[in-house]
Amino acid sequence: MDDEEMFSEFGDLLQSGQIVKERWRITKKLGGGGFGEIYEAIDLLTKETVAVKTESAIDNRQVLKMEVAVLKKLKGKPHICKFIGCGKNDRFNYIVMSLQGMNLSDLRRSRPRGAFSLSTTIRLSYQIIQCIKTIHEVGFLHRDIKPSNFTIGKTPDTKRTVYMLDFGLARQYINSQGNVRTPRIEAGFRGTVRYASLNAHKLKELGRHDDLWSWFYMIVEFISGSLPWKKLKDKERIGLMKERCDNWKFLKLLPSEYSDILRHIQELGYFDEPDYDFILECIQSSIHRKGINMSDPFDWERPTSSSAATSITQATNRPSGHHTSTHAVLSHQTQLEIHSNEVFDTQKAVIPKQEAGLADRFSARDTEGGCADEQLGIILQRERDGDDLFNEQQGTSYCKRSLIWSRSP
Ligand SMILES: Nc1ncnc2c1ncn2[C@@H]1O[C@H](COP(=O)(O)OP(=O)(O)OP(=O)(O)O)[C@@H](O)[C@H]1O
Ligand SMILES: [Mg+2]
Repeated sequence: MDDEEMFSEFGDLLQSGQIVKERWRITKKLGGGGFGEIYEAIDLLTKETVAVKTESAIDNRQVLKMEVAVLKKLKGKPHICKFIGCGKNDRFNYIVMSLQGMNLSDLRRSRPRGAFSLSTTIRLSYQIIQCIKTIHEVGFLHRDIKPSNFTIGKTPDTKRTVYMLDFGLARQYINSQGNVRTPRIEAGFRGTVRYASLNAHKLKELGRHDDLWSWFYMIVEFISGSLPWKKLKDKERIGLMKERCDNWKFLKLLPSEYSDILRHIQELGYFDEPDYDFILECIQSSIHRKGINMSDPFDWERPTSSSAATSITQATNRPSGHHTSTHAVLSHQTQLEIHSNEVFDTQKAVIPKQEAGLADRFSARDTEGGCADEQLGIILQRERDGDDLFNEQQGTSYCKRSLIWSRSP
């Protein structure tokens, strides 16, 4: 059956069995992203399993064009999916790329405590910096750095490599002369609220350092299992919380080398080129100092430690005379979680609504942290990366300031 002829009863752009461009036979839907749907398919030409990302042709929120442009620029680079093809018809635009494995958001949430071990966190942080360096080197910002936009590979050769996905919100920061583009005085919000930099909250033009801020928040979430604003649903309040919180506290769970990285990121402005090699060296030093082996299994490669969970229960149930042994049997991860509660005491961090800063700049807000589409003004409520009630903050957001925010006179 041809893709032009078949419409899904459930509103999906494609269905299993459908063949796109007489070449890619859809086998299953992998998920609905923010701007379209992702399917697994068989390439009838090469017999490979591939991923097909689609977006509706009638929706004004078209991001695949940018995705294709960036993926082509990144062709052949490490940590990047292979670009296989693209096209469009009356109903949808599509891009075909190599199929990867699970994304880092799902991998983290599949951990018993929703956090990665130090060893896995550090090694992921290293590969993700390499990914960010790669896209910046071809003149683009990603602008939506978050765990669900990174996957591990699918094959035995690639399953320990991190891949960067989703270039729909990318932006060229270099002009045709090779200089950094003049920043716009005000830009629309782009990105995902949970991981967005403060600059993004303040609607500033984003630069290379803003991708690094998102990396930082992501790493903190990896190691601790959450971010302090996880339960907040209001973009403005999250921005205020980011502004007020002490970033150095986040480092409690990370090796001391990460302080140097944070210091470096804090010093960067829009025009500055981050020193990626310095960051990578810091991470390398922490790897050596902590005795971590690059070839150690990642958390998801180890057998699930239900035995560890059992031993904790047993230990905590013991009579008080055995109390001292409790700590000894707690896994490393449990200990991290205990620390993380100290770091992320969201109860203490209540932010007065009309506080100076962001709240003063904007009087009215949109609904529930959702965002309006740039052209259509459609409110998008998104649920990705989420494991809690108020997870609309996590979706990739397109905002039109004039629709969402009314400026105070
Ligand atoms: N090439 C791929 N191989 C395997 N899985 C993929 C691939 N591309 C996307 N996915 C899966 O689909 C999810 C959504 O993909 P992607 O981020 O590209 O879509 P999106 O619509 O831009 O999503 P969002 O707006 O939520 O970031 C990813 O988190 C990943 O799990
Ligand atoms: Mg995405």
